[in-house]
Amino acid sequence: MHLGRTTLSKFLIQQLRDTDGGNDLAALLVDVAAAVKAISAMTAKGALSGFLGALESSNGQGETQKKLDVLANEIMLRSCDWGGLVAGMASEELDEPYELPTDHARGQYLLIFDPLDGSSNTDVNVSVGTIFSVLRHAGAQAPVGADYLKPGRVQVAAGYAIYGPATMLVLTVGKGTHGFTLDREIGNFILTHPNLTIPEDTSEFAINTSNARFWEAPVHRYVTECQAGRTGDRRRDFNMRWIASMVAEVHRILMRGGVFMYPKDTKDPGKPGRLRLLYEANPIGWLIEQAGGRASTGRQRILDVAPTALHQRVPVILGSRHEVERIERYHAEYDAGTDRPFESPLFNERSLFRPEARV
Ligand code: F6P
Repeated sequence: MHLGRTTLSKFLIQQLRDTDGGNDLAALLVDVAAAVKAISAMTAKGALSGFLGALESSNGQGETQKKLDVLANEIMLRSCDWGGLVAGMASEELDEPYELPTDHARGQYLLIFDPLDGSSNTDVNVSVGTIFSVLRHAGAQAPVGADYLKPGRVQVAAGYAIYGPATMLVLTVGKGTHGFTLDREIGNFILTHPNLTIPEDTSEFAINTSNARFWEAPVHRYVTECQAGRTGDRRRDFNMRWIASMVAEVHRILMRGGVFMYPKDTKDPGKPGRLRLLYEANPIGWLIEQAGGRASTGRQRILDVAPTALHQRVPVILGSRHEVERIERYHAEYDAGTDRPFESPLFNERSLFRPEARV
């Protein structure tokens, strides 16, 4: 018996007891948790499910969809659309927001989610996740696309599930970041990691260095210094990780610190970054801030970015506070032209000193 353990429902009731609309928000998060359990069971079957691999179709942004992307999306929609708790939902897998069936009661929240983040990893049995964000919907009308375009600082709940060796749910309602582990025997999420706190300093960074030739100078400067380790300006060695699954990188950072970057690059000039503001950067940014870390585009706090489009992308630099502040400073110095000569924009243009020659 495990008497006295704090289940997710008990925790949410306690945290949201005095919040306006708190009961509905707690109930919605329990619905999200139910979806997460179903997605966890599905992904854990691996090849036995028959659902590995890609579909012929792609999503609205031209990306290949995995069968599991589509199934996880359906699970989230069906778990959360029936209870009179949401007014509408937006998913990374859908071009337009999901409108509730007309016979469903409409609630006061908007649920925004990436049903299966890092899904390229499902075929190789590496951790993936689900990311979600909740906004309040004011007004009696059904929401339209513009209602979802709110800055991350007005979120009322955010979280992710990670489907790793254990399935965990990590969430915030603005009172710290807390982690729950799925006890598969009893089917409950149990509070195992209360009040997660990210160390302010770190010697671990995560970035896809195959994109190095597309980065801006401040990111080159930072990564070059990390790589130089104790022989360079930082005077200590750094370690690097890249899982290609944002939830897994973020989870590591919440557990032991670190910095994660998917910065602005020139790989596709139409996209200022790879990650989506509404489905990924905002919820993760808030979780990181609530754990004492920092989340930035390099030039602005992520939670202050004013969204202009549902599937908008944004540069993301987050994690241990002092490192993110350092990278922001490198951006500011670069923009002001006060960084060291070899980081100046001029050298970006000259083949001999092009950053890719230095990383
Ligand atoms: O959509 C996003 C994502 O899968 C993230 O989870 C991950 O951090 C990133 O893309 C991986 O990108 P890349 O394929 O460049 O390694």
